[in-house]
Amino acid sequence: MFRRPGLVTRIALAALTVTAAVAAAVPSPAAPTISAALTASAAPAVADVAHRGASAYAPENTVAAFELAARQRADMFELDVQETADHKLVLMHDTTLARTTDVEKVFPDRTPWRVGDFTLAEIRRLDAGSWFSVDYRDEPVPTLGEVLDAMADKAPGLLLEVKEPRLYPGVEARVADELRDHPSWLSPGRLVVQSFDWNSMRTFHRLMPEVPIGLLGTPPIADLPKLAEYADLINPPYGGLTRDYVRRVHSHGMGVLTWTVNDTAVARRLVSYGVDGIITNRPDAMRQVVSR
Ligand code: G3P
Ligand code: CA
Repeated sequence: MFRRPGLVTRIALAALTVTAAVAAAVPSPAAPTISAALTASAAPAVADVAHRGASAYAPENTVAAFELAARQRADMFELDVQETADHKLVLMHDTTLARTTDVEKVFPDRTPWRVGDFTLAEIRRLDAGSWFSVDYRDEPVPTLGEVLDAMADKAPGLLLEVKEPRLYPGVEARVADELRDHPSWLSPGRLVVQSFDWNSMRTFHRLMPEVPIGLLGTPPIADLPKLAEYADLINPPYGGLTRDYVRRVHSHGMGVLTWTVNDTAVARRLVSYGVDGIITNRPDAMRQVVSR
């Protein structure tokens, strides 16, 4: 099982590796980041996790948002994986394409524009940036594989959410295959896979027992021992989260990443509860709250 106190340390080590690679390519600007990470690796740390990327400033679940999160020194970036009609893995939060793309204009007759009703070739035609800002016009909906490639040398850690897996039978195996095709993400401490669907996560754990599992939600304390048989993290919404709940999760050897926290005062309170990570749309602001 993944050991809770190692999460941020391992991510910090992954950050060093990734930052060192960037530093080798671009010598002077990256050097201060390496020393900052070295200094902080001795301190107790809380992971700064960019929710759907730096989604306060760039369109969610796009490479632009993930790259911005990396530049803002997030420890991990979070993304949502779903599946197309031809079983390709794409990044999208909603189960329809309407809110974050121009699908209604490009395919006016395809209501309700479900992700799973479109092929990858069709989704390639969509603009996933203009809804957010004209500055991001023509930003594409990325595939999971494209993001694993694009971010391999840029971001320390990835929090991969399998969104609504009941809509995509077999998606767990396809995610596992994609990860095996990108083995650098399987380095210790670099990856957590999570879902609101705990059965799906049990399935994923059977497929890739080496990958830490996060369960989204707030399971009853009485259920924690059973869940700890395959889960490494419990990831609850921050509203209603208590110091005692965090302590109970820790007592079963699991960590806590809480979401979605955009207010630094709230984040400081949650850090005082002992959470292991803050999932935020504003990784730059949270950088000031967490240790590294
Ligand atoms: O990572 C936590 C968070 O992403 C879960 O909620 O709806 O934003 O996917 P949601
Ligand atoms: Ca998510």
